[in-house]
Amino acid sequence: MSGALAPDIRPRRLRTGPAMRRLVSETRVPPAQLVLPMFVRDGSAEPVPIGSMPGVVQHSLDSFRRALNGAAEAGVGGVMLFGVPELRDATGTGATDPDGILNVATRLAAREVGDALVVQTDLCLDEFTDHGHCGVLDAHGAVDNDATLLRYRDMAIAQAEAGSQLLGLSGMMDGQVAAVRDVLDSSGYTDTAVLAYSAKYASAFYGPFREAVQSTLTGDRRSYQLDPANAREGRREAILDAAEGADIVMVKPAMSYLDVLADVAASSHIPVWAYQVSGEYAMIEAAAANGWIDRRRAIEESVVSIRRAGADAVLTYWAVELAHWLR
Ligand code: PBG
Repeated sequence: MSGALAPDIRPRRLRTGPAMRRLVSETRVPPAQLVLPMFVRDGSAEPVPIGSMPGVVQHSLDSFRRALNGAAEAGVGGVMLFGVPELRDATGTGATDPDGILNVATRLAAREVGDALVVQTDLCLDEFTDHGHCGVLDAHGAVDNDATLLRYRDMAIAQAEAGSQLLGLSGMMDGQVAAVRDVLDSSGYTDTAVLAYSAKYASAFYGPFREAVQSTLTGDRRSYQLDPANAREGRREAILDAAEGADIVMVKPAMSYLDVLADVAASSHIPVWAYQVSGEYAMIEAAAANGWIDRRRAIEESVVSIRRAGADAVLTYWAVELAHWLR
């Protein structure tokens, strides 16, 4: 039988039941390819909730230790650490101080779970500067690219020394990958890897993160992060970072930039990751809290779409919860 009322071709055969649907599913989200971003707050005895990110906290060292072990038990692939220091200054001294919160947290994480997962650190100055920019400023108040590279080199050594296995270069300074790779290699840290936040867009979706790290930024980051309108420029940054020696490139945010992610993934010879950022998390949590969407389905769909677009691994604040669901 064929004809207008009886099609010859029936794609729905592959959707008839859960077993068939599972068998033909093209995209999986393995817990080992999820990375949990974590915030550690200086001088805090208790974890502090982040209002715009329900379920996410600024950790005390104690709660951090527990959460690290929880992440390792859940089987996630890594953790990405951010420090929330008590004191900030013009050059972000806390970032290079071995006793600075991020370096202290890194040492703890490397010791506690360093064999079970990959300990990664945010390499950027914005959490440590009193002006909140990702670099140091020149006499006119502009972010000074080359002076910032010198700070990033010192930060790289401090983080590698503390035991970070993968440095997340999120500052969007020109030449940052080459600058950091050079100092790592000449200091004996040839095995410390570099994750380049290559296509990092100047995005409104970082809003809740700014609360999470108590950012002091006034103004914006448009002189260094990418214009959301530009896909070609995102691809260019990924190519440059790979040429400078990045081990992994990243696209960020994820959901609004799936086209850039797919493009970079299609041509990259090194792994391509994506960061599902704080605002993406907050939107789904807020809608779910209102009963407007099914929370679990929305979370799973959002992360599977990021994988489908080509991300080898995904940074997501739901990493541990997802890992439990997936097992
Ligand atoms: C910079 C950095 C930011 C994020 C990760 N690394 C903030 C920014 O660029 O303004 C945002 C992550 C998120 O929103 O979840 N240190």
